[in-house]
Amino acid sequence: MRDLRGRVCILTGASRGVGAALAPHLAAAGLKLALVARDQAGLQAVAAQIQGQGGVAKPFPADLSQIDSLPVLVARVAEDLGPPVVLVNNAGVEDFQHFDQATVTGIARSITINLAAPLALTRLLVPYMQAAGQGQVVTMASTAGLVGTPYAAVYSATKAGLIAATHSLRMEYCDAPFGFTAICPGFINGAGMHEVHKREAGHAPAALGGTTVAAVVAAILRALHDDRGEIIVNSTPLRPLIGLGRTLPALSDWLTRRLSGTYMRQLADVRRVKATGPLSQGSEGAKGHLPG
Ligand SMILES: NC(=O)c1ccc[n+]([C@@H]2O[C@H](COP(=O)([O-])OP(=O)(O)OC[C@H]3O[C@@H](n4cnc5c(N)ncnc54)[C@H](OP(=O)(O)O)[C@@H]3O)[C@@H](O)[C@H]2O)c1
Repeated sequence: MRDLRGRVCILTGASRGVGAALAPHLAAAGLKLALVARDQAGLQAVAAQIQGQGGVAKPFPADLSQIDSLPVLVARVAEDLGPPVVLVNNAGVEDFQHFDQATVTGIARSITINLAAPLALTRLLVPYMQAAGQGQVVTMASTAGLVGTPYAAVYSATKAGLIAATHSLRMEYCDAPFGFTAICPGFINGAGMHEVHKREAGHAPAALGGTTVAAVVAAILRALHDDRGEIIVNSTPLRPLIGLGRTLPALSDWLTRRLSGTYMRQLADVRRVKATGPLSQGSEGAKGHLPG
């Protein structure tokens, strides 16, 4: 998009973490922001910060797991702020854990919030982008969607789904005056869920690389201006590993396990202990939850 000024943007996951850090940058680029998340106080604080800087932002509290409520949400944004032509699908939940601790309900909830809701919002934006003759949907995926990550099966699946959907939509709408981008960050330092990981299991190994909020913000702004399909944001080069995954999947799995397995397992172990109490025989000895 050439000029973002005055365009309405729905930003999900705006109450804290990366979304809260990103919001003032999107407002400074001239976008009018509809801030979406469940935590009303968090949204109010972000809106107040933006308004204090002369920008336009309004909270639209919503629970993305209630997928049937999304048409009403988007209609309310259109009515209050104007037709939304930019969507930043940033909200997401991670459920890094031993897979035998996942519940059927939890799996469905993660898939709804991380995959179904962003797709539904994207679908709801299409008529507005068509009518305006412009627009961009930027979706926060993850490097975990490019290379399956141990102890993150559901999260990886949802992020891989977002990346595939983005490429699919780019092909289907290749002649349209609007675009779709998947942002694939590694662990983000400075705000968001990786700050929680650090408190639980320490820093991720240096070999995995990582990134910063500033780099992610820059990637999202680049996506809005240049309509890029997929942007990997990570300090170490991951493309060779991803390419390897396509040609030699067993070797790629072995390498990924070597790089991230111990750290991710540490996180999963910490969470298993929190959920079930101290382990007596190592994590293998702990009983998994009944999936329910
Ligand atoms: N941080 C990283 O290292 C990293 C790396 C790669 C990709 N990502 C992706 O980047 C995005 C932002 O992550 P983050 O680190 O900022 O996470 P975060 O700090 O946990 O924040 C998640 C955001 O999503 C919102 N959210 C969660 N469940 C929701 C629901 N049911 N309905 C509406 N909003 C909901 C939260 O708001 P409420 O709780 O107020 O609803 C919050 O604003 C996610 O998609 C994540 O997968 C993060």
